[in-house]
Amino acid sequence: MKARVTAHRDFTIARIDDRLYGAFLEHLGRAIYTGIYQPDHPTADRNGMRGDVIDLVKALNVPVVRYPGGNFVSAYNWEDGIGPKDQRPTRLDLAWHTSDSNQVGIHEFADWCDSVGTEMMLAVNLGSRGLEEARNFLEYVSAPTGSYWGDLRKKNGRADPWKVRHWCLGNEMDGPWQVGHKTAHEYGRLASETGKAMRMFDKSLELIVCGSSHSGMDTYPEWERIVLEHTYEVADHISLHMYFANRAGNTAEYLSQSEKLDRYIGTVASTINVVKANKRSKRDVYISFDEWNVWYHSNQQDREILDGNGGWPHAPRLLEDIYNFEDVLQVGLILNTFIRRSDVVKIACIAQLVNVIAPIMTDPKGGAWRQTIYWPYYFASIFGRGTALNLSVEVQGYDTEIAADVGYADISGVRADDGTMTFFVVNRHATEAIDLGISVEGFGGVPRVIDHQVITHTDLRAVNTAENPDNVAPKAGSGAKVEDGVLHVSLPPHSWQMVRITT
Ligand code: AHR
Repeated sequence: MKARVTAHRDFTIARIDDRLYGAFLEHLGRAIYTGIYQPDHPTADRNGMRGDVIDLVKALNVPVVRYPGGNFVSAYNWEDGIGPKDQRPTRLDLAWHTSDSNQVGIHEFADWCDSVGTEMMLAVNLGSRGLEEARNFLEYVSAPTGSYWGDLRKKNGRADPWKVRHWCLGNEMDGPWQVGHKTAHEYGRLASETGKAMRMFDKSLELIVCGSSHSGMDTYPEWERIVLEHTYEVADHISLHMYFANRAGNTAEYLSQSEKLDRYIGTVASTINVVKANKRSKRDVYISFDEWNVWYHSNQQDREILDGNGGWPHAPRLLEDIYNFEDVLQVGLILNTFIRRSDVVKIACIAQLVNVIAPIMTDPKGGAWRQTIYWPYYFASIFGRGTALNLSVEVQGYDTEIAADVGYADISGVRADDGTMTFFVVNRHATEAIDLGISVEGFGGVPRVIDHQVITHTDLRAVNTAENPDNVAPKAGSGAKVEDGVLHVSLPPHSWQMVRITT
């Protein structure tokens, strides 16, 4: 099968916001405890943070990490996580039916963000709490000393404000599973007043209001319209979430789910525009896709704890999806979609980062390793920065229940500031290789390939483990070449690739 693509240097979609490669860490399962934090681990730093995990996260160059939830935040008291550690209370976490020792709170998380070189994106509790607690948390984090909260922060060891830019106004407030679930009008009013108060403290904050938990919600997309009608003048982003699953064991169908993601983004972008027009507003609101990933492998094994039959364990194994090679293709498709939608999606967070539906796994008694999905996320984060190219693509497609004519080859293109171009390509076809030809126009000079990475495997179910961490890993590709201005690449069946060229 053949596919033809044209990339012109000046035919672009948008500047890709670096925050497209963000991540998420929740007080859930072993994400925090024995994930990033394990004082008795041989690699632990002086703050009790695992050094092996810090190294793997640092390599990803994660621009922003959302914290502390997730469903957890909707019943969280941020004050439980400050002050002397031996005086912090252990609380029951209603969202995941576990307990939390609060040994990690805002100070520990902020220090960890410094260690890995990322920015914090904090969520306030608009489930069980409201404006007052959100305001207090903001002032604790960002107020100067000489004020009540600034002085308390100093007493707890940190005089300088952290000056956090991103604040999420609650989490998935459309979901009946959420502590303090609200209607769109109730949430819209609360978010609007909370955001207004936060802005009165600092005009430069970027505020993120809750959109739909997923596009299958009964309230979608009216939820977005109503919430934005209330919050349009304070919101900078509306948050969307989506998880992907292959429950039926149908790979072709599974790999078409990114079409649903694309439609979801398009619908919410249109809703934003409708509200903008209704309001006669000059402001722009963007999408923060702050939870996305594959999530289904662990559903069955989690039932006992989530149903409340396991008591209130501290940091149990929860949502520990073990990712396979098929999921590499899915994550590659998701990231391609975000790059192509980078005109409206300015923030995206893989959910989550360590142990809990995560690219990085740890053994409390051993090391840390990369899951299969680490790789497409890694390459996109490192080489997917710059300007998204508007590619013209001619490729054969197939029909699924989700969409018609889903292209067998899925491609995104990025022009970096140094002039190099990177293409990320997925071949969705199970048996046929695709002969891909990319005409590269408007770049001047003779293009040549500088990097070519391929991830493929004979077994879609292949996974990485502590004992075999490189079972699914990138390998140097071969055969990619530029002839007469056309980049030729062969895409093996079911494969992910990255090709980088320069002129
Ligand atoms: O990431 C796991 C959970 O998924 C989050 O806590 C919640 O926001 C979503 O439903």
